Amino acid sequence: MPDRKKTLDELRSQRWFSAPGTIGAHKHRRIKQAGFTTRDFKDKPVIGILSTWSDFQTCHSHFPQRIEEIKRGIWQAGGFPAVIPVQSVSESFLRPTSMLYRNLLAIEAEEAIRAHPIDGAVLLGGCDKTGPGLVMGAASANVPAIFVPAGAMLKGRWREHTLGTGSSTWAAEADYRAGKINQREWTAMSEATVRSPGTCNTMGTASTMTLLIDVLGLSLPGASTIPAVDSEHMRMASDAGRRIVDMVWEDLKPSDIVTLAALKNAVIADMAISGSTNSLIHLIAMARRLGHDLSLDSFASASEIVPVICNLMPAGKYLMEDLHFAGGLMAVLDVIRNELDLSCRSVNGHTLGENLQGAIVFDADVIRSLDNPVFPSGALVVLKGTLAPRGAILKRSAADPALLDHVGPAVVFRNNEDMMARIDDPDLDITPDSVIVLQDAGPVGAPGMPEWGMLPIPKKLLAQGVRDMVRISDGRMSGTSYGTCVLHVCPESRVGGPLGLVRDGDLIRLDAAARKLDLLVGETELAARREVWVSPPPHYERGYGAMFTDHVLQADEGCDFDYLARPGVNPEPEVH
Ligand code: FES
Repeated sequence: MPDRKKTLDELRSQRWFSAPGTIGAHKHRRIKQAGFTTRDFKDKPVIGILSTWSDFQTCHSHFPQRIEEIKRGIWQAGGFPAVIPVQSVSESFLRPTSMLYRNLLAIEAEEAIRAHPIDGAVLLGGCDKTGPGLVMGAASANVPAIFVPAGAMLKGRWREHTLGTGSSTWAAEADYRAGKINQREWTAMSEATVRSPGTCNTMGTASTMTLLIDVLGLSLPGASTIPAVDSEHMRMASDAGRRIVDMVWEDLKPSDIVTLAALKNAVIADMAISGSTNSLIHLIAMARRLGHDLSLDSFASASEIVPVICNLMPAGKYLMEDLHFAGGLMAVLDVIRNELDLSCRSVNGHTLGENLQGAIVFDADVIRSLDNPVFPSGALVVLKGTLAPRGAILKRSAADPALLDHVGPAVVFRNNEDMMARIDDPDLDITPDSVIVLQDAGPVGAPGMPEWGMLPIPKKLLAQGVRDMVRISDGRMSGTSYGTCVLHVCPESRVGGPLGLVRDGDLIRLDAAARKLDLLVGETELAARREVWVSPPPHYERGYGAMFTDHVLQADEGCDFDYLARPGVNPEPEVH
């Protein structure tokens, strides 16, 4: 039996179902409309299952079955399950970018929890923005919530090759564009990367965020590495259903779990797993929802002390399935336990220290020791300088070491359309030493800060064997991507950041060791350019797109909406 802190009368759902007179009777009647009896729902905690499944969300195509398993657990523990579909935020299909819709999911999740008779929530997500969006919403609603990660898809196999989602495809695409493989081979290989339901199996954004949500304590410990189609995943889902009912009675809420200490643990773990660069934006946004201050500097200092110990693509060579069988997340955290606050609590009611008991590394090449890391500390660097006064980031572990101290002339594209139109032009004045600059790819500019940051290498340079160059943008990059790509330049060009003032031929210096990114143009010249600079016209004149650009914060603030990130308490709905 759980340690009950709540009585039946204190459950939110009772305000609906035990409302006096005709109001309560109306709610009973309408539940019975779906075929339930009084015994099914009366005097039970109501658990909302927020599902991000749709036919376009192919990473979550196993969710209908998982929902049945979660429901089974909820029924067994004495709860009443209610499924609520929310935005599926498909990474593969939503355009111009799924990031435009993370905040919409967060709003929807928060309001779905607040407006329904829900005492606890199971958050069913995984594909990139779904984890952060669900957690941001649940954090603001602050009712007991447990996250069920989708799990990674099976490893890709083609001929004798093991393939990772995204990373292997990017490499094959470069070979295809360079004429090294034919279209038939390219198609067969890329299709072999998607063998089953589940999220991308490299250390992309989905893997990163589900691991970090697990570190925060919002999933059953270790759930994040279980492969999507494994029967262990089904058992984890029903366990989560059972556990959320107890959490309601214990009144164990997101604010009790996602403390500043837990967030710092997630930042430390992010460095050890060489997480996707998107994680900085998402963790900062999640922290701010609970009133915690997490800044780019928190990541910069964690990176200086924690080496990369997870040998997963794109920084390493293995995949999520390998990580699971090598010991999973708990084994990773055990290796870095000295850097973690072990007193943080998880949804299972235990501390992180307790949850780490019994953690074992079964494959020391997948989960490395601290003295044999995949990459030493400093894998992710926060750069500042005249080109990025509020910061930019570079995943050093995924970059060509020869380019980390580099000065080169800029080749500027004023937006993505311009880049796609000219990048493969045989007459483009560009050499391997050039610095490719993409403007207008930021939160307001693009809008939604798409994953355009792994800017393409021009075809003519690919044919010469060039595979990496210094590339700079105010956009993001897929966690499965790699290269010397400086991202999240802040403030972005569209709102007047110096990136918007760069012109062809300007010298740019990247000095990763010094954490510097500078535009080598005199202040007088920059002031003159600023004088004549005009912001491009907005993309959206109305609707959600216009609301997004009016309210989105910059990358260093998590790209949440200003009115969602601010503190404040909303009233419980009046039930009538
Ligand atoms: Fe869904 Fe990568 S596309 S996780």
